[in-house]
Amino acid sequence: MNKNMIAPSVLAANFANLQLDIEMVNYSEADWFHLDVMDGMFVPNISFGMPVIEAIAKYAKKPLDTHLMIQAPDRYVKDFANLGVTNLTVHYEACVHLHRCVQSIKDHGMTAGVALNPHTPVSLLKDLIKDLDLVLLMSVNPGFGGQSFIHQTYAKIQELKELIQAKNANCLIEIDGGVNDKNAAKLISCGADVLVAGSYIFKSEKPIQTISNLKSIISK
Ligand code: DX5
Ligand code: ZN
Repeated sequence: MNKNMIAPSVLAANFANLQLDIEMVNYSEADWFHLDVMDGMFVPNISFGMPVIEAIAKYAKKPLDTHLMIQAPDRYVKDFANLGVTNLTVHYEACVHLHRCVQSIKDHGMTAGVALNPHTPVSLLKDLIKDLDLVLLMSVNPGFGGQSFIHQTYAKIQELKELIQAKNANCLIEIDGGVNDKNAAKLISCGADVLVAGSYIFKSEKPIQTISNLKSIISK
């Protein structure tokens, strides 16, 4: 997989005219769509589910990177595969049989990611890291867009990078929450491969330009 990627989080898009924002991302230099599914139980917010992803998939011309903030995500792996999701990321904290869930994601033809909340140590992934295509480090507490970046994330990226190298694993590091032009370069230099950005992109005046700026910052 390519590195130094930008994944705009659709959570911050205009839901009353989603097609317009989807086309904007298609046209932009962004690499993936980041889709945040929240169930109101694992996180204190409800976002969107299958019908909305089905609608997005009709127009999206880039991979669908789907971040499940739901309890027991293994119940829905098949449904997300059927919607055409490319990468499915589940939370470490939401999944009792995480190894089985990761295998199921791969068996359904998707790449598999595991997300860690800010308080969850990277070391807990040591027995699973070789099976993963992606690790998502939450750099805010999951549930809402527009929160402030947690600085401890830089150290966690470095720790994760060391674990990946020590285990000879091959997985991408994705950072999600509070990403902007101020922290993007440092995140990449610490070892991140994919940066998710929601409000920084969609609330900006010229989102296409904002994406382009982020891309040039992280490509240096
Ligand atoms: C938070 C979500 C994020 C969120 C990021 O729970 O996982 O993807 O949309 O939004 P910003 O970039 O606004 O922090
Ligand atoms: Zn997310």
